[in-house]
Amino acid sequence: ALPYDLAGQRILVSAGGTREPLDPVRYLGNHSSGKQGYALARAAAQRGAQVTLVAGATSDPGEPAAVDIVHIESARELEHEMSRRAREADVVIMAAAVADFRPVDVAGSKIKKGDDGPAPIRLDTNPDILAGLVRARGAGDIARDTVIVGFAAETGDADGGVLDHGRAKLRRKGCDLLVVNAVGDGKAFGTEDNAGWILTVDGNETALPFGSKTLMASRILDEVAVIVPHS
Ligand code: C5P
Repeated sequence: ALPYDLAGQRILVSAGGTREPLDPVRYLGNHSSGKQGYALARAAAQRGAQVTLVAGATSDPGEPAAVDIVHIESARELEHEMSRRAREADVVIMAAAVADFRPVDVAGSKIKKGDDGPAPIRLDTNPDILAGLVRARGAGDIARDTVIVGFAAETGDADGGVLDHGRAKLRRKGCDLLVVNAVGDGKAFGTEDNAGWILTVDGNETALPFGSKTLMASRILDEVAVIVPHS
C-alpha cells in the first residue's frame, strides 16, 4: 500500500514543455512528454496531497485522478501561474521543460515564405522560473518553509560529470532538492523510464536506479515527505 504521508500537503507541480509562439500557427518547443511531472502529481494525490498540476505541451501522459490541472503554453504563462499559485503551496516541483529563449516578435498573421528566403528569428531570454520562486521565497513573497524542487536534465553519466553539474546547479538555483536525470541516448525525454540522482541542499545524494517514472516519482516524494514541515 502507498504511504499516506503527504495528507493535507498542498503540492504544485509543473509538467510538460513550453511552446514559444512565432505566429498563430508556429512555435519553438521541445520533446518533453510531461510524463515525469504527471507521475509526480498522480503519486502525490495518491499519498493524500492536494495537487495542482500546471501543464504545458505533453504527449500521452495519462489523466491523473484527483488532480486540478491548469494548462499553459509559453514560459511566461507558466511563470505567471507558478508565482501566483506558489503562495498557496507547501511544496513546488518544477518538472516542466521550460524554453530558455522565446522569439522577440510574434507575428499577428502566419509568416509567409518571402522572396528573400528565410528571415532570421531573434530571441529573448525567458525568465528562470525556478530561480525566481527561490528569490520570491527569500523575499518572503512565498512562505519561507515552502519546499522547492528542481530538475536537471544532464547528458552523460556519473563519471562524465553529470553529478558535478547537478551539484553546481543545485547551488546556483538555490532549491532544496534537485532531481538529476541522465539524458541522451534515448534516455528520459519522452520515454517511460528514467534514471539519475536526488540531491539535497544538505548534501545527501540518493541514486535513482533505472526504472519507471512512477517509481521515480515515489522516490522523489519519499525525499519530499522527509523535509516538508508537518502540521
Ligand atoms: O537550468 P536548467 O534549465 O537546466 O534547469 C532546469 C530546472 O529549472 C527545471 O526544474 C526547470 O523546470 C527549471 N527552469 C525554469 N525556468 C527556465 C528554465 C528552467 O524554471 N527558464
